[in-house]
Amino acid sequence: MNILFMGPPGAGKGTQAAAIINEFGIPHISTGDAFRLAIKQGTPIGIKAKEYMDQGLLVPDDVTIGIVGERLQQSDCEKGFLLDGFPRTLSQAEALEGILSELNTQLDHVINLKVDRNKLLARLTGRRICKNCGATYHVIFNPPKQEGVCDIDGGELYQRSDDNEESVGKRLDEYINKTAPLLDFYEQKGLLRQIDGEKEIDTVSKDIVAILRG
Ligand code: AP5
Ligand code: ZN
Repeated sequence: MNILFMGPPGAGKGTQAAAIINEFGIPHISTGDAFRLAIKQGTPIGIKAKEYMDQGLLVPDDVTIGIVGERLQQSDCEKGFLLDGFPRTLSQAEALEGILSELNTQLDHVINLKVDRNKLLARLTGRRICKNCGATYHVIFNPPKQEGVCDIDGGELYQRSDDNEESVGKRLDEYINKTAPLLDFYEQKGLLRQIDGEKEIDTVSKDIVAILRG
């Protein structure tokens, strides 16, 4: 099953991806995670991406499309995949069509997590992530059992450098100007399904699974 998650920054794409890849046994392809790994490793792509990410701006399409094109050719994607954070521009969406058609496959579901803009800042500034396993928490909405420590593996929790008020504002503007128009693109293809992302985390997961199994 080939799934695409859409939604503004902080809508819960990463949180829900963790539940869905467990349920369906498919790889999670997150361009944000791929860029953060490249930054940590100090690769040329990481150095370039960091300039944009720190400012809350989208990384240029050519860099991003190249990364996803390579990833989708790997054999573990033959059983399906979950795309999170890509595509984010019309050019990326068109490039994805081409990549998938070369692989003789297509998207099966596009899920849009809807969350009101005024809720997103609190979600993002309170987010904490495990340094070891990448599990996502929230200081209020999804706190770990022990403050600053991952429930799964005891790893230290950190805050993303772009989860500050200034970057979040720019990320939301980028979303509205460049990514939200893609909702029409997928609506016209009859693929788009809306999910209320403001419900409890577990309820949102159940709603998504119901659509995917539907
Ligand atoms: P990326 O890493 O993709 O960030 P994003 O889209 O801004 O999304 P987030 O990871 O911030 O949010 P999320 O929806 O995953 O929310 P989460 O589940 O963590 O991209 C980062 C940057 O990389 C971009 O700004 C850009 O520079 C670059 N980039 C990436 N892809 C690109 C592309 N295709 N093209 C160009 N540039 C690209 O949840 C957020 C918080 O809310 C957590 O604390 C969580 O615990 C909490 N939460 C989740 N669900 C709920 C709920 N139901 N109720 C209450 N709290 C909840
Ligand atoms: Zn962890």
